Amino acid sequence: MTNINDIAKQMVADGKGILAADESSGTIKKRFDNIKVESSETSRMNYRRVLFESKEAMENYISGVILFDETIRQCNKDGEKLVDIIKRSGSLPGIKVDMGAKMLSKMNNETVTEGLDGLRERLSEYSSLGAKFAKWRAVIAIGEYNPSPLCINVNSHALARYASLCQEAGIVPIVEPEILMDGSHDIQKCYDVTKETLLKVFDDLIAHKVDLKGICLKPNMVIDGTKASNKSSSKEIAEMTVKCFKESVPTEVPGIVFLSGGQSETDATENLNEINKIENTPWKLSFSYGRALQSSALGVWRGKSENEGQCSKAFTHRAKMNSLASKGHWSKDKEI
Ligand code: 13P
Repeated sequence: MTNINDIAKQMVADGKGILAADESSGTIKKRFDNIKVESSETSRMNYRRVLFESKEAMENYISGVILFDETIRQCNKDGEKLVDIIKRSGSLPGIKVDMGAKMLSKMNNETVTEGLDGLRERLSEYSSLGAKFAKWRAVIAIGEYNPSPLCINVNSHALARYASLCQEAGIVPIVEPEILMDGSHDIQKCYDVTKETLLKVFDDLIAHKVDLKGICLKPNMVIDGTKASNKSSSKEIAEMTVKCFKESVPTEVPGIVFLSGGQSETDATENLNEINKIENTPWKLSFSYGRALQSSALGVWRGKSENEGQCSKAFTHRAKMNSLASKGHWSKDKEI
């Protein structure tokens, strides 16, 4: 069995990042509604198969794919397991194991991510289905009075319990505390909340004896709220993000893979590129994008088999652009 430290390193291999294709049934339905495609077991399989069969992207730019429970069990029309298609390209299958963010009682619209009950048994099954890594997303929203210390504490505690169970099962945990972009807060507020959350998360991971060399951190970038009056430049976002991590993320962590969180495809690429232009960072800094790798691809697919080639091409292009950005080698002219 490959050791978790080696898997974690493989997840952030040079020029590679992770495809987040683990949209829950509700989220993928919303994405399909936008392109007027009915969300069924077959349509979901078909769309995801097109991504996983994109050889150029998968072999060169994608180190791993985060799957949803349904997908890790699915086969294509010829009876081939989607997991095997991923593995054949040299990429690692991963699995979302949290059960979603649920309202915290008595708190002001804050959530805690659930899914710890029975997690040990589920991880053992996912491992037998081929999962090499897992994902758990905690959600922290910024508001006038939020986040509360309680919200940060309970989410951080759950992330640490999840991470230690993953490592027990020989699975690398992606630790994802997402500070949402929603709101009119400025970049400084995002910086403060991200730093406070990450410090708490690493305290809890250490208290739960998690091996920091065997995890991947999946954070938000430090960025202005979507309704903020100011829009910071990519350079400012990169500088604030790296400064925040230097003050909160231990150097043993092998890799940081960003979520895109609602940024446009090119913003997510440009910001990652600026981050990687900064020298002397102790961790690999790459991507684990969902929307920022798939938006164009979904738009051209539209549920039609004759569009599969174009869909694959759009996905490959974004994967390649983000691969360049993960090395600080992207520029706008490469988009054409
Ligand atoms: P986005 O890149 O669309 O934010 O999705 C990444 C993800 O996995 C969120 O949990």
